[in-house]
Amino acid sequence: MAAIELAQALALLLADEAVAIPTETVYGLAANARSAAAIARIYALKGRPSTHPVIVHVTGADALGRWASHVPPAALALATAFWPGPLTLVLPRAPAVLDAVTGGQDTVALRCPDHPLALALLEACALQGIDGLAAPSANRFGHVSPTTRAHVEAEFGADFPVMDGGACRVGIESTIVDLSGAAPRILRPGMLDRATLAEILHLAPQAAAKDAPRVSGSLAAHYAPATALQLVPPESLPARAAACIEQGLKIAVLARISREQSQDATPKARWWSLPGEPAAYAQVLYARLREADALAQDLILVEALPETVDWAGPRDRLARAAHGAGRRTFSSSNDRH
Ligand code: TXA
Ligand code: MG
Repeated sequence: MAAIELAQALALLLADEAVAIPTETVYGLAANARSAAAIARIYALKGRPSTHPVIVHVTGADALGRWASHVPPAALALATAFWPGPLTLVLPRAPAVLDAVTGGQDTVALRCPDHPLALALLEACALQGIDGLAAPSANRFGHVSPTTRAHVEAEFGADFPVMDGGACRVGIESTIVDLSGAAPRILRPGMLDRATLAEILHLAPQAAAKDAPRVSGSLAAHYAPATALQLVPPESLPARAAACIEQGLKIAVLARISREQSQDATPKARWWSLPGEPAAYAQVLYARLREADALAQDLILVEALPETVDWAGPRDRLARAAHGAGRRTFSSSNDRH
């Protein structure tokens, strides 16, 4: 089956099947959010614990009231400003929302994706009575999220039905803002950054607390390649790479500095030069991580990113990747989620 058109995707969704769809952030594994059987397909395919909630994708702000029991003014303001776009809102759930969607929590996560194919599919679904698509990232639990159709096929096989929307424009998952509590909180940073959100919220959201609601993306070990991965400050990267090679390790390096800038200290390293600007960096990060991982080296060294707000999304994903990586080399000792 592999690449499918909208009509085929719609037919599969109406039959409670899951299909992979492009969004502007990453590819999603979509199913009818009103069907417990359809959501069970997602959990089975991903190998994800059924207590983890999924994001419901909707056609726009007018859908908020169908999924949330209460739509605070801040939610409407954010949806109006940033939807369609890489922003997920966590709101108190409406009573009819399935436990399979919320993981049994009293909140529901909602997002309107900014991709023409996803929006066209959501509109077509709405006409058929499916007013939301549950869609976690289209990867097996704990793996790096897919940003191309080829990545999805690497996760679920070449026969898996995928709508091909090209390479994702944003490249990392949406920013998640929790509006269900007393004050807005960012549960997961993304490319819509804190400073931009604060223009609408009139209040800088708090950083994600250690005890945030269950967000699988907030588990320490997530978005992880199979190869061990270490973050290294830019100034020590060439020396660290050289030392690894000296020890006889095969390494891949992902850095904003080029091999030439590293004074060619590491001719034996496989080297990927990443863009120096956050949006361009995020767009290619997962693709480069997958490529580096596929080489099955002993170690991936990644240049640590600046501690500034505009880098918060990629920094967060790399920290988790570093924590969870290495099942290929350390599978017995590593606690995978
Ligand atoms: O960009 C994205 O958000 C992508 C695309 C496909 O839309 N989706 C995505 O889904 O990243 P997933 O399932 O891989 O991550 C969604 C996160 C999970 O960490 C989940 O725990 C969290 O959203 N989430 C879902 N419902 C929630 C809720 N009610 N409260 C808190 N977190 C929730
Ligand atoms: Mg995910």
